[in-house]
Parts: sequence; structure tokens; C-alpha cells
Amino acid sequence: MKTRTVQTVCFSPTRTTKRLVAAVAAGLGAASVKDWDLTLRGAQAPVFSGEAGEIAVIGVPVYAGRVPAVAVQRLRTIQGRGALAVLVVTYGNRHYDDALIELADLSRELGFVPVAGGAFVAEHSFSTPELPVAQGRPDASDSDKATAFGRQTAAKILALASATDGVELEVPGNRPYKEGWNKPPLKPLLDERLCTACGECAAVCPVGAISINGVATTDDTLCIVCAACIRACPSQGRSFMGTPIAELNQKLNTHFSTRREPELFF
Ligand SMILES: Cc1cc2nc3c(=O)[nH]c(=O)nc-3n(C[C@H](O)[C@H](O)[C@H](O)COP(=O)(O)O)c2cc1C
Ligand code: SF4
Ligand code: SF4
Repeated sequence: MKTRTVQTVCFSPTRTTKRLVAAVAAGLGAASVKDWDLTLRGAQAPVFSGEAGEIAVIGVPVYAGRVPAVAVQRLRTIQGRGALAVLVVTYGNRHYDDALIELADLSRELGFVPVAGGAFVAEHSFSTPELPVAQGRPDASDSDKATAFGRQTAAKILALASATDGVELEVPGNRPYKEGWNKPPLKPLLDERLCTACGECAAVCPVGAISINGVATTDDTLCIVCAACIRACPSQGRSFMGTPIAELNQKLNTHFSTRREPELFF
């Protein structure tokens, strides 16, 4: 079967998943690629027509070894209608645990036929210049591997007579999945002296946890600690310094600094 159209779908607060999904899509070599980013509230989701040759590249980050609950919620608005799905999870060099198997199960539930899956390393959302974790990932080597993964997947698809013809994807992970993280009230802290109330942080927050009232105010019950606002703040006013996330990052920096490589499954 020929790859005709590709639609990419991602949830990607700090943009690393988005970059890897684009690299995979480039490798698929389709004539038409359409990108759908479900990171922000109210984002439009793709529609699949059910015609042969439609491919989805679905990418999410790993949060506590699982697919982030908010990403699951947004993906559930999509109907796969038999389209083939290429699955991408990105993780911060600790492990992806049950996230890839969970994404494979979810994609089947949505009506996709998962055909390939990859777990890619990306800079950890909690990483800082002082205590880096997978800093600079995905790098050129990761992007090349993601594109090669797309090419290999296109070759697998070409060999298929139909979308359901012998496609059985097995990926690592356990069922039942490990318990997700029941996040306590937590949020980035703000140095109010640096805040200019520019609103950049609120604009990138996937869950609408930030309001601007003279300074940025964050609802710690809504916050998913994704770090998007920290990276977006032009005055470097926001950080996890002084929160339990900083302690966690210290541990990640100590124990998970050995470089891991992408893992690919067909
Ligand atoms: C709340 C939270 C939990 C995370 N849990 C894990 C994890 O279990 N294992 C891991 O290796 N990385 C973990 N990470 C790191 C992210 O998976 C990684 O940084 C990812 O690339 C972020 O994707 P994005 O740039 O698309 O937002 C976590 C990040 C956050 C914010
Ligand atoms: S407030 Fe929380 S959820 Fe919103 S962007 Fe910042 S870290 Fe992410
Ligand atoms: S991005 Fe930074 S400076 Fe702008 S409103 Fe948010 S915290 Fe304040």
C-alpha cells in the first residue's frame, strides 16, 4: 500500500515531541503532510476519511511512565477510521515504561491500526542549564534516526496489501499500566520582580493555569508541571527552584545521565 497522505498529531508543551514527529513524517515521504498540534486547549483535531493510504503520526511525551492524562483526553476526540498509525513517545532519558504500549492500545481504541512505534529521548522538561538531563536532545543523530524510522515504516507500509493485512505491532510495556502520577498541588515559582505581565507564559500553558493580574498568577491544582511557561518566559522569571521538582531533577541528573538511544519497533 502506498503512503498517500500523512497527518501528524502531537501534544508537546516544550516542543521536543513536535520536532521528532516532524522528522518521522519527513521520512515517510508522503506527497502531503498536515500537522495538528493538540497542546493548547481548544486546538482543532484531524479528521480521517477512511481512504486507503492515510497515515497518522501520533506523538506524546512520557509523564511518569504513562501518556499524559490531558493528551489522552485530547486524542480521544479523534476517529482513526482504519488509518495506519506511527507512534512516537519522547522521554527524558529515564524510561518510557508503559507509555508506548498505552499509546498503542489507545490508538487501536480510536480506530487506528498501529504499524510502527518509537521511543525517542528528548531533553527532560525539568532539566536546567545547571542540572541538565538529556540536554540538547533530540540532537542531529536523534533526528536522523527519526527520519530513518519514518523511511523504514514507509517500506513496511508499501509491502502491505491493505491496512489490516497482517499488521501486528508489539511494543514493550506492561498491562495493567503502572499507576500514573497523582500530582499534588505544584507549579513553577515566579520571581515577581522579573515579571512584566507580558502574558507569554499564559499563551503557552496547555491547561489554562495562568492568569495575568498585574503579574502572572498560577493555579497549582490545574498545573501539569510541563515547563512550557518556564521556557517561554522572556525574563526568566519562572522556575521549579525551591519546589520538589528541583529535588527530583537533582536525582535525574545524578542517576540518568548515561545516554540512551532511540528504540524502534515494527
Ligand atoms: C510531569 C512530567 C513527568 C515526566 N516523566 C518522565 C518519565 O517518567 N520518564 C522520562 O524519562 N521522562 C519524563 N519526563 C520528561 C518528558 O517526557 C520529556 O522531557 C519530553 O520530551 C517532553 O516532551 P515535550 O518537549 O514535547 O513537552 C516527564 C516530564 C514531565 C513534565
Ligand atoms: S503553569 Fe504549569 S501547566 Fe501551565 S505551562 Fe506552566 S508548568 Fe505547564
Ligand atoms: S512570561 Fe514571564 S514575564 Fe511574562 S507574564 Fe509570564 S512570568 Fe511574567
